[in-house]
Amino acid sequence: MNDLLAFARAARLQAHAPYSGFQVGAALETADGRVVSGCNIENATYGLTVCAERVAIFKAISEGFRQFTRIAIVADTEAPTPPCGACRQILWEFGGDLEVILGNLERETGRLRMADLLPLPFDQHLLGGAP
Ligand code: THU
Repeated sequence: MNDLLAFARAARLQAHAPYSGFQVGAALETADGRVVSGCNIENATYGLTVCAERVAIFKAISEGFRQFTRIAIVADTEAPTPPCGACRQILWEFGGDLEVILGNLERETGRLRMADLLPLPFDQHLLGGAP
């Protein structure tokens, strides 16, 4: 098993977070064992900021990956930093009940599943007829 947290820590070093000073890294594992990473990218308008998790999943989708197994998320915090609500929705769309591994610079801080983070999701099953 590769150390997904190590990939997320490396991605975090690329964060563009001059406004919050809060750097986040994410590493998404594909079903065939590849890793696609992301970091948060902030903007002077604030509202256009994109979280590390969404950068990772959009990179992966744009590179043709469609099946995922796990995502690791790293921030420099003692407490676990779980994905925000918007990221949960996007992760569910493409990753379903992914395993979510949370960590800081030294250690793993939590491990859970997307179904616990996003109970009763709105998704394609409710749209009847959509894929
Ligand atoms: N952020 C992430 O990248 N992922 C999370 O799970 C939580 C928040 C970013 C967004 C913003 O750049 C900074 O952290 C502070 O909210």
